[in-house]
Amino acid sequence: MAIYSLLFFYPCIGIPGVRERTLIAVKPDGVQRRLVGQIMQRFEQRGFKLVGMKMLQVSEELLSQHYQELRRKPFYPSLLHYMTSGPIVVMVWEGHNVVRTSRIMVGDTNPAEAQAGTVRGDFSIHISRNVVHASDSVEGAQREIQLWFHRKELMDWDCYDHNSTYQL
Ligand code: TYD
Repeated sequence: MAIYSLLFFYPCIGIPGVRERTLIAVKPDGVQRRLVGQIMQRFEQRGFKLVGMKMLQVSEELLSQHYQELRRKPFYPSLLHYMTSGPIVVMVWEGHNVVRTSRIMVGDTNPAEAQAGTVRGDFSIHISRNVVHASDSVEGAQREIQLWFHRKELMDWDCYDHNSTYQL
């Protein structure tokens, strides 16, 4: 297929970085507090595209892979206990610069330092219950997405409003 035809059917492929993806998870405290909808709404209204989502109770095995760099931290046992204590909602969001923008939207790890207007700054007060996870780098996001999702669980679809979101 000629590049013009590809761009006609899939205009987003012409925009650099538009296929960047990140992993966002509403942690057990966020689910218990019924914050899933409000958190998702922030990513939708910003203009990002949801390409995968599921609810699950995470195993210690999966979590230890997810948080592999934190295994020796003193808070790791309580983090493991809390993260496996109830269901979480895990999502993949796609769009230009989504990894960096999501980290800004989510706010500082410690809610006491998180700016008002961020998810953690608006919905949490203590580092041990900071409501949400967001991948911290493009490479980290790729690793986490592969860990949490099978390829067939992620949707490739076109937003019909991309003319309003990007300069094509
Ligand atoms: P980390 O990966 O450092 O932060 P972030 O989630 O912002 O990428 O830490 C993972 C989670 O571990 C963090 O969201 C909350 C928890 N945590 C604690 O409970 N106590 C701590 O002192 C730290 C640094 C993190």
